[in-house]
Amino acid sequence: MRAKVTVIGAGNVGATLAQRIAEKGYADVVIVDIVEGLPQGKGLDMLQSGPIIGSDAKVIGTNSYEETAGSDIVVITSGVPRKPGMSRDDLVLTNMNIVKSVTEQAVKYSPNCIIIMVANPLDAMTQLALHISKFPRSRVFGQSGILDTARFRTFIAQELNVSAQDVHACILGGHGDTMVAIPRLTTVGNVPLTELLPREKIDSIVERTVKGGGEIVALLKTGSAFYAPAAATEQMVESVLLDKKRILPCAVYLDGEYGIKGVVVGVPVKLGRNGVEQIIELKLTPEESAALKKSAEAVRELVKIMNLE
Ligand code: NAI
Ligand code: 2OP
Repeated sequence: MRAKVTVIGAGNVGATLAQRIAEKGYADVVIVDIVEGLPQGKGLDMLQSGPIIGSDAKVIGTNSYEETAGSDIVVITSGVPRKPGMSRDDLVLTNMNIVKSVTEQAVKYSPNCIIIMVANPLDAMTQLALHISKFPRSRVFGQSGILDTARFRTFIAQELNVSAQDVHACILGGHGDTMVAIPRLTTVGNVPLTELLPREKIDSIVERTVKGGGEIVALLKTGSAFYAPAAATEQMVESVLLDKKRILPCAVYLDGEYGIKGVVVGVPVKLGRNGVEQIIELKLTPEESAALKKSAEAVRELVKIMNLE
């Protein structure tokens, strides 16, 4: 029997993610949205691509949660994307109401699921879903670092004219302006980035990476990035459902790791069938550690706004 993935939100990220999962064929997909007809139409369209692409995955769209029952994974993409000039943090009050209600519904019908958060502000929304679901932290985590490192890897590969697949990048912290790129632990064909590019060039690539989401918002004018975010989320879904045990940067609740307690922040984790099976603690320099703690404090401030009690 194929696994079952529910994708909440049939917008840009949700629909692209559903399509990617269905194309890989390892899970059936239920797409949920509040707009009548939207998930049903997109789901039917995706299902009809099955005979062409050779996938037997079932895809359905719905406005109700009954059909999501027994999902192995629920991905939450329902939320408002930012407009030009907005930060991800500006979305907190709008998206917290959406994320709260969809988490309650999802958990009611799939009490044993793993929740993967995508809605922004990512770290705060992950912490909200953790709070509402009352699931262990291994089963509620968010997509952030795979996208951020993919941007970093892309820009490095462009600069050095190498395959981005051979660039391994390290970014920690919140999915926002305080994210912490670690060039010292970023390698190209096993060679540290710091040996390949001058400091100023690395700094400018880091700056473009940190502002990478905003660059796309400014270009699109309506909505934010979705192709790379959907690809990043699919990688997480696959690592869980196929028990790949990939080491991937994800947003997870820290309970003392990295000297940080009680807040969701991005760090490398091992993702397998049980969700987050291990939190990988990198040895950081005092400067890197201070930057990560600063980023965690920025998330904590945002979480405070939600008054989670
Ligand atoms: P979108 O506007 O294209 O899609 C959002 C969908 O959610 C819409 O179809 C809307 O009808 C639906 N929705 C709203 N309230 C709902 C509810 N209560 N129940 C079910 N569906 C509901 O937006 P897009 O581009 O797909 O982005 C979605 C969210 O993901 C945004 O918050 C965005 O900032 C975030 N995002 C996060 C990324 C990350 O790396 N973590 C990357 C890209 C986007
Ligand atoms: C991004 O980084 C919108 O968070 C999303 O593109």
